[in-house]
Amino acid sequence: MPFEPFLMERWQSTWENHVDVNLSESGVEPLTVDELLEEDPDLRRAVLEQPLRYVQTNGTTALRERVAALYPGATADHVEVTTGGAEANQMVTWTLIEPGDEVVVMLPNYMQVWGLVRAYGADAKGWQLVEDGDAGRWRPDMDALADLVGERTKLIAICNPNNPTGSCLTADELDLIGAMADRVGAYVLADEIYRGAELTTEEETPSMWGRSERAVITSGLSKAYGLPGLRVGWIAGQTDLVNRCWERHDYATIAPSALSDRLATHALEPTQRARILGRTRAILRENYPVMADWLASHEGTLTHVPPAAGAMLWLRYSHGVNSSELCERLRTEHSVLLVPGDHYGMDGFLRIGFGSEVEELKDGLARVAAALRA
Ligand SMILES: Cc1ncc(COP(=O)(O)O)c(C=O)c1O
Repeated sequence: MPFEPFLMERWQSTWENHVDVNLSESGVEPLTVDELLEEDPDLRRAVLEQPLRYVQTNGTTALRERVAALYPGATADHVEVTTGGAEANQMVTWTLIEPGDEVVVMLPNYMQVWGLVRAYGADAKGWQLVEDGDAGRWRPDMDALADLVGERTKLIAICNPNNPTGSCLTADELDLIGAMADRVGAYVLADEIYRGAELTTEEETPSMWGRSERAVITSGLSKAYGLPGLRVGWIAGQTDLVNRCWERHDYATIAPSALSDRLATHALEPTQRARILGRTRAILRENYPVMADWLASHEGTLTHVPPAAGAMLWLRYSHGVNSSELCERLRTEHSVLLVPGDHYGMDGFLRIGFGSEVEELKDGLARVAAALRA
């Protein structure tokens, strides 16, 4: 399989630091180290005294225990810490996928798993979510999934809450997915990196954890926690699989950064975790109405199904222009960055992040409105 660039990440990597307003992000305005540590002198001293050595390469026991606490019945041995959620997805797919495997991938989706499994020689089959305005979400079509899953299916890959629609699967739907996977002995890779960033409820989106024999969760601190610069992610799964991923990790980034491991352990302490997720939800709930007002002034030309989680909006537009061309014009003529639907294989859509500071968001939206008028 010739190398296929990861279009969305390439676009963001190239331009996100060269525009006035970046609305291509899917997470919230990041915390500073200062905000993370608050006014706790002992903690600040402990962080300053952290030796910058190689830590335990699959993550310190302290951090793995904090992650394990998020998954009932898990221990530190069920967890591997990775460099971001991206590396977690890479390690799991690299470990599991062999040429000729079939992988069913929920679409639309952050296209990393799609690209990786193809790079590892698998046949990726898209399982399309259905836009359902009446149900108020992009909902899964379980019959379609049943048709796609067969004896050759090695893996079912879901992203829940979903990037880019912000839709969430229910516990019953996850159970059904688990049952379908178990029937053919497939793994379920659930990327749950937006879990905890719910817009309308205090309840976290149900996890895939424990719902299938071969469920493996990937997640991290970049989105719901607003800590992408720590580059901390994790894999939670059966110990055997996690250990196989760890072996591969030796060929990649070896170990998490010592400082990041230390700060992540702090962020996942239960009181801190609640504080950080509370901050995220407060940002989402302040900013979404700004988006909604803006959309109301474009009624008829821009439509969307409100997201349940995450800091992004998946917007259908009807201006008859290709999404990549539109985003290129927004970038070059208005210095604002969005993600084109093309990068998800869905032209006619735009992804707008609404997790940034509210004045920046308003500035960006005004620029997009000006471009759409033109
Ligand atoms: C669904 C999903 N998984 C993983 C990642 C990568 O996360 P990280 O920055 O922690 O590597 C992203 C980033 O946008 C994402 O949207």
